[in-house]
Amino acid sequence: MPIGPMVRRLFGRHEHRVAAIYRSVFIDIDAYGRQIGAWVPKARKILEVGCGEGAVTERLVDLYPGADILAIDVTPNVGRLFRGCRDRVSFVQKTVQAVALEQPGQFDLVILSDVIHHVPIAIRHELLAAVRQTVAPGGSLVFKDWERTATPIHWLCHAGDRWLTGDRVHYLDKGAADTLLAEAFGNLPIVAEARVTPWRNNFAMLVRG
Ligand SMILES: C[S@@+](CC[C@H](N)C(=O)[O-])C[C@H]1O[C@@H](n2cnc3c(N)ncnc32)[C@H](O)[C@@H]1O
Repeated sequence: MPIGPMVRRLFGRHEHRVAAIYRSVFIDIDAYGRQIGAWVPKARKILEVGCGEGAVTERLVDLYPGADILAIDVTPNVGRLFRGCRDRVSFVQKTVQAVALEQPGQFDLVILSDVIHHVPIAIRHELLAAVRQTVAPGGSLVFKDWERTATPIHWLCHAGDRWLTGDRVHYLDKGAADTLLAEAFGNLPIVAEARVTPWRNNFAMLVRG
């Protein structure tokens, strides 16, 4: 049983703020949101895969005032800490494989943020293939993850992921991410890349479907 959920619930009504402070040690989510908006200024229908408790979803709601957002995760805590207007957001416990079957090619923007290192290596290709099936023709995938480095901040990130979430995480390096995306989307799918503050470990890529 991971200690993270138990410890976090002790913060009660302060949990959202404490979670945001913890996350800000590793990534400036507002800067990440601005990067998504710069890459994809408009979107009508958005799928966020592995949305967790809804931190990135909060930014998507503000960035895309006209969009409908489907935010999915395999955990029951999907969207638990989301603070914002829920009128255009649906949080659903569901796999991307199920969405790919139900709504193939329906989303002009798909987001996969800090998920892949939580996914067992053996099923990453299958997950990316399903993600690919959800992207509308000419639509976009924003893929973001944390690059493995021999640095103290990476060791801290790894320890946090391992002991707070309880997941057996496996980080990729940038080359492995390129390969994974090329296998799912075909050759040369990456049209833009960025690093997100405050650490270069945060790499994001824009992929055209
Ligand atoms: C570090 S959290 C990131 C949450 C969110 N994307 C964010 O950036 O705030 C990783 C999330 O990936 C989810 N996840 C792990 N395996 C998954 C899978 N096969 N499909 C969808 N989500 C998955 C976990 O449940 C967890 O919520």
